[in-house]
Amino acid sequence: MGLFRDILGDEESLFRNPIALDFDFVPKVVPYRENEQRYIATSIKPLLQNMNGKNILIYGKPGVGKTVAVKHLFKELEEETSQVLPVYINCWQKNTTYKIMVGICDFIGYKFTHNKNTEELFAIIKRNLNRGSAVFAFDEIDKVEDFDFLYHILEGIYRKSILLITNFKEWLLKLDERIRSRLTLQMLEFREYNFEETKGILLKRLDAAFVPGVWDDDAFLLVAKKAYQAKDIRVGLHLLREAANLAEAEAKRKVLPNHVQKAISNLDEFSVKSSTALDDEERMILEIVKENSGKRIGDLFEIYKSKNGSGVYKTFQRRIEKLAKNGFVGVEKIKGGTQGTTTIVHYKSKEKKLTEF
Ligand SMILES: Nc1ncnc2c1ncn2[C@@H]1O[C@H](COP(=O)(O)OP(=O)(O)OP(=O)(O)O)[C@@H](O)[C@H]1O
Ligand SMILES: [Mg+2]
Repeated sequence: MGLFRDILGDEESLFRNPIALDFDFVPKVVPYRENEQRYIATSIKPLLQNMNGKNILIYGKPGVGKTVAVKHLFKELEEETSQVLPVYINCWQKNTTYKIMVGICDFIGYKFTHNKNTEELFAIIKRNLNRGSAVFAFDEIDKVEDFDFLYHILEGIYRKSILLITNFKEWLLKLDERIRSRLTLQMLEFREYNFEETKGILLKRLDAAFVPGVWDDDAFLLVAKKAYQAKDIRVGLHLLREAANLAEAEAKRKVLPNHVQKAISNLDEFSVKSSTALDDEERMILEIVKENSGKRIGDLFEIYKSKNGSGVYKTFQRRIEKLAKNGFVGVEKIKGGTQGTTTIVHYKSKEKKLTEF
């Protein structure tokens, strides 16, 4: 029955638990980050003794385990005590004080956020959190548009630790002096993984994701090398998945070096790095811009619609603006012509650049 059954035969898939390759999957252990996790745990520890905790700026290149180490630690904290509430916020998704307040309400289980303004929401948060203590992680902190929420938390929550996570420690200079001096941040760098560590991490994820024995040793080594060169574990996770998909498409029982090579040649660095940051619609729009770089925004919208894009023009414009703001596309306003002013959209390279800050 069915085409896929025919191609694959009766055999099971090569994958046992593909979720283990998801970028936001939190594995049972996070190897090679024990020291960093201990450092963070020490800063949170005073909260367990009813004292104020310490604040940390966690920084390091993309894909070096900052997010996963913090999420893993939060999980452990949650399992061990109900005295400290861990609150994790991704500031790319929640980039204003209001959105962050709504996000925190989620963590405290407060649902009636509708029709309440920032001050009202914070009053509720304050009442709730000041009964115990809280540790906040603001991930991708360089993406927030205002810092009022930090000010509120520093002034209004008595026992807390604040973790700020970013790719660039230079970002600190952008922070208001009043907030910076109140934060008295400790600095914690996540250095890049060496080759052995990269291999070790990927092997664990491989074991969790695949049926034992389906990966050829040399094929795995190729994946690990590429991830090490890219200095980003995500590249490795992506290649593990893609190479196995290619092997399955050929109805092979083993993932071989040629599958990895093919996956590497298909590798779109952009989609690997951005996939945690952008939602599906944004990614789709970015793909369209990439294929039609230099076109007018109106024409891009037509293409978007022809591909069953669901948003209206205003939403489309807003998404282009967001992509532009974060350096994924460039926009250029052109005056004159039959249509008056129009906007031309260019695809830009994906790297988060220091010059953005
Ligand atoms: N030590 C590790 N053990 C297991 N998985 C890891 C480890 N380090 C990184 N990873 C995995 O690699 C991917 C990238 O890690 P993570 O998301 O934590 O990177 P990051 O440092 O937060 O990067 P960015 O700055 O781009 O947000 C994730 O899927 C994560 O699960
Ligand atoms: Mg991260």
